[in-house]
Amino acid sequence: MNAPFQPTDSSGPVRDDYVPAADYISREFLQLEKARLWPRAWQMACRAEEIPAVGDYYTYDIADESIVVVRTGPEAFSAYYNVCPHRGRRLTSGCGHTARFHCRFHGWQWSLDGANTLVVDREEWGGCLTDADVALKPVRIETWGGWVYVNMDPEAAPLAEWLAPAKDFLDPFDLAGLRYQWRKSTILPCNWKVALEAFNEGYHVQTTHRQMLEYMDDVTVSHTHGRHAMFAYWEALPMGSRSRRIGGPLTDDIRPGILAYMEDMAATLNAGSSVRAVHAARRVMQEVAPGSSPIEVLTAFGGFIREDAVNSGAGFPPITPQEIYAAGIDWHLFPNQIMLQSPTGLLGYRARPNGDDPDSCVWDVYSLQRYPPGQEPQVVQEWSHDLADEAFWGRILCQDYENMADIQRGMKSRGFAGSRPNPVQERAVSNFHRALHDFVAED
Ligand code: FES
Ligand SMILES: [Fe+2]
Repeated sequence: MNAPFQPTDSSGPVRDDYVPAADYISREFLQLEKARLWPRAWQMACRAEEIPAVGDYYTYDIADESIVVVRTGPEAFSAYYNVCPHRGRRLTSGCGHTARFHCRFHGWQWSLDGANTLVVDREEWGGCLTDADVALKPVRIETWGGWVYVNMDPEAAPLAEWLAPAKDFLDPFDLAGLRYQWRKSTILPCNWKVALEAFNEGYHVQTTHRQMLEYMDDVTVSHTHGRHAMFAYWEALPMGSRSRRIGGPLTDDIRPGILAYMEDMAATLNAGSSVRAVHAARRVMQEVAPGSSPIEVLTAFGGFIREDAVNSGAGFPPITPQEIYAAGIDWHLFPNQIMLQSPTGLLGYRARPNGDDPDSCVWDVYSLQRYPPGQEPQVVQEWSHDLADEAFWGRILCQDYENMADIQRGMKSRGFAGSRPNPVQERAVSNFHRALHDFVAED
């Protein structure tokens, strides 16, 4: 008789079509991630726009670690472990503004550069406390694309090296020029990787978001780029076409499909370029002849978005149609950042382990847009724990959330040894786990 499957066994190999269940459900694997992944990975802490003034800080929590990121100059940032060197109290939570850091236990203080400026009754240590002893401990920090990244490993390679080659595809989008449209967070009842992976493949659209098949041919291809991965609709019929899964196009005219697609996205997701895309799709219906080829229609559609962005004063990056095409639709930047990029907007996701619980994660969703300077909205982070609240999340995200708890519960079955990602459409999933195993493997 075969030995029963041990759900904590993380020794199984990752293949394009196989990922061990233990990666998602085992407490031991979560501990390995805490010990070997998070302390060595560059990870997005916040957007620079969240800490616009010198002295603004953001507290980035990851598993049971906490890091405070602070703006120290117009273009300068620092990061420190969020812990008082006296007796270990956390110094900050959330975000705020301060001229100096201050511990609420015994009143020690630090300037924004991390140097200690006050140890109450310091002479009582008899001179044995050095300035280094009482300074805040620094964490590596760099920026890219408008995000602020931290890395706890002092020996880590530079961020640009970490992000290569993904950044080469994404740099032409001028992501640093985008600003928040909205930001929403919640706790999802699943492992952080279950959540991320649900947003890094298009294979689930035909079931989870079946309504979308009326205006999109949903066949995707997934490509890996080192630790990172992306997917694209390069094998699909042109945008606005009815999916081949439900019989394919009823007409050669993709214009009504593009309008239906954009109106539905605006109504059910309202992220990224939604509003501009609806306006552009309406202009396509009015200004592009019905017999036009798909390439003519799509070129006009892209041109109308660009024209709208430029005329509004928001501007448009000097990106080529080839660069937009080559970047595909969706990127997963290892370990935990996902984006659906466009020249005028972006839909972003991030998942983090929720403390020590492998069955729960902190989930952030946000939309960025390109605004005319001075017209950026003031956006606050909103929370909802009602995952079925379509008024808050929109229909698309609620559909995705319906899967989360049932995936996590399902993977604990004795009848499930590992997941079987689609090697064509979900290669990003297995690539993610290969990269993860490189980190958590014995040194
Ligand atoms: S723990 Fe911070 S001053 Fe004592
Ligand atoms: Fe989805």
